[in-house]
Amino acid sequence: MIVCVCRRVSDREIARHARAGMDFDDIQFELGVATQCGQCEGCARDIVSQCRPLQPMAALSKAGDVPQAQA
Ligand code: FES
Repeated sequence: MIVCVCRRVSDREIARHARAGMDFDDIQFELGVATQCGQCEGCARDIVSQCRPLQPMAALSKAGDVPQAQA
């Protein structure tokens, strides 16, 4: 999906850069997103925040697994 119509930047491009560790300012400089009318900035920032590589991941467990108490 195109997020920035002015610069033809897609959500995939933004997400790929964010997963590579770039912050919004870096991505804006690299891709030009949100540098013209600015209507896409909020959406672009949301994508960056959702795709940051440092987001903690939830621990997965199988149903029925009981966490062991620590002594
Ligand atoms: S839609 Fe991104 S700057 Fe206009």
